[in-house]
Amino acid sequence: MEKLAVIILAAGKGTRMGGETPKVLAKTLHGTLIDSVLNTAKKLNPEELLVVTGFKAEFVRESLKSCTKIKFANQTEQLGTGHAAKIALDELKGFQGKILILYGDVPLITLETLKSMISQHDLKKSTVSVITFIPANSNHRYGRIIKSEDKFVAIREHADCSPEELAVKECNSGIYLVDSSFLFPAVADLKNQNKQKEYYLTDIIERATEEGQNVETYLVEDYVEVLGVNTHAELNQINIEIRKRKVSELMAAGVIFENPTSCVIDPEVEIESGVVVGSNATIKGNTKIAKEVIIEGTCHIINSQIAEGSHIKLASRIENSVIGKNCSVGPCAHIRPETVMGNDVKIGNFVETKKATLANGVKASHLSYLGDCEIGEDTNIGAGTITCNYDGKNKFQTIIGKNVFVGSNSSLVAPIKINDNALIGAGSVITKDIKSNSLALTRATLIEKENYKKKS
Ligand code: UD1
Ligand code: MG
Repeated sequence: MEKLAVIILAAGKGTRMGGETPKVLAKTLHGTLIDSVLNTAKKLNPEELLVVTGFKAEFVRESLKSCTKIKFANQTEQLGTGHAAKIALDELKGFQGKILILYGDVPLITLETLKSMISQHDLKKSTVSVITFIPANSNHRYGRIIKSEDKFVAIREHADCSPEELAVKECNSGIYLVDSSFLFPAVADLKNQNKQKEYYLTDIIERATEEGQNVETYLVEDYVEVLGVNTHAELNQINIEIRKRKVSELMAAGVIFENPTSCVIDPEVEIESGVVVGSNATIKGNTKIAKEVIIEGTCHIINSQIAEGSHIKLASRIENSVIGKNCSVGPCAHIRPETVMGNDVKIGNFVETKKATLANGVKASHLSYLGDCEIGEDTNIGAGTITCNYDGKNKFQTIIGKNVFVGSNSSLVAPIKINDNALIGAGSVITKDIKSNSLALTRATLIEKENYKKKS
């Protein structure tokens, strides 16, 4: 098989992105723009992988240092895409085969499209293949695909187009596959006699046509695949697309979305088949959701694991936590970092947990704060119970044993230990450890003055 070299153009500054970071290091949900392009390129197993850096080259190189396969070429002055290609080819002298040129700021190009373009290139015995697209609206400055009697003959840059050429809908994505024997001399001969005084890589098309070489377009259906990032709005559009792809992928794998377009699911999230996800749910980071889980609407789940059969009810927020099997959480529960629930735990509405280890069968059904605590199996925490974990300076631990019954509206002043089978009377303020099987209650004596109202 013929060898493949990949060149990624990444010298541009990205003025419209603001700040001092080179544009290709801007981050989407998939990591930096250039990482996305590289990850796709690597899957083609190219013989050579070359990145053209320029603006803040050292930052770009540093960010890519873990990939030892990459060669770098430095373009100190950005004189155009043709000039960038020339500098790249200086590093690839003697290479024979096909050369794929990608942009470091076009992150959504898929492996399938690239493979399919390569197959078409081989099938049609092309010298140059260009990925083309039809932009969503006509307000753009892309190079136009010029055809003569249906034959692709040139790419005309926006600045150099005649009014008729400006009306052409099909545009150049900037992604090319070119035979090395043609590309080396064609790039060496590029001139900068155009409106922008730049060396246009696109000029190789006209040369190929003049030489009678076969040039072909490969039109992608969805323009988003070749969308370049020049502004934060475009970066946002890329993220929207990443999420859209993720939801489609999950639906194809059997996840049930009540309102798919309303949900935000990060790429690395894993959700098993049959899980139901309600409207406006946000699921982010390293989150794994097992089968038969139900996530109701507007839940927000970040870096958390939810085991089989659990039900996360409306508007609950779960972060950096582990939820066991068949638990019920919410509605409106706030599960803060380092909460670990066993199986069959019930956390009801307006309950907040933090650094809380809750064993199997623990119940806290209403309006509680459970922070810096360990709670044993089958313990019931009554409504309004608070672990008073903070004295204004330090945080303290509350340990509650198995089968404890904490009556409603109790304050457990940490550090404190309530041993197995203890019973805490409603409304108590507990300030010392309680032994197993004890009843503990702190209560002012109830005074009832009969007919009080009448006398006064
Ligand atoms: C280029 C194409 C245009 C196409 C468009 C698609 C040319 C002459 N024009 O236009 O037909 O529709 O891309 O987005 O090629 N770069 C360098 N060094 C340079 C110049 C550019 O590395 O000297 C890199 C940039 O970082 C960027 C890419 O090449 O990743 C494209 O450069 P850009 O200036 O955006 O090209 P356009 O003028 O938009
Ligand atoms: Mg551009």
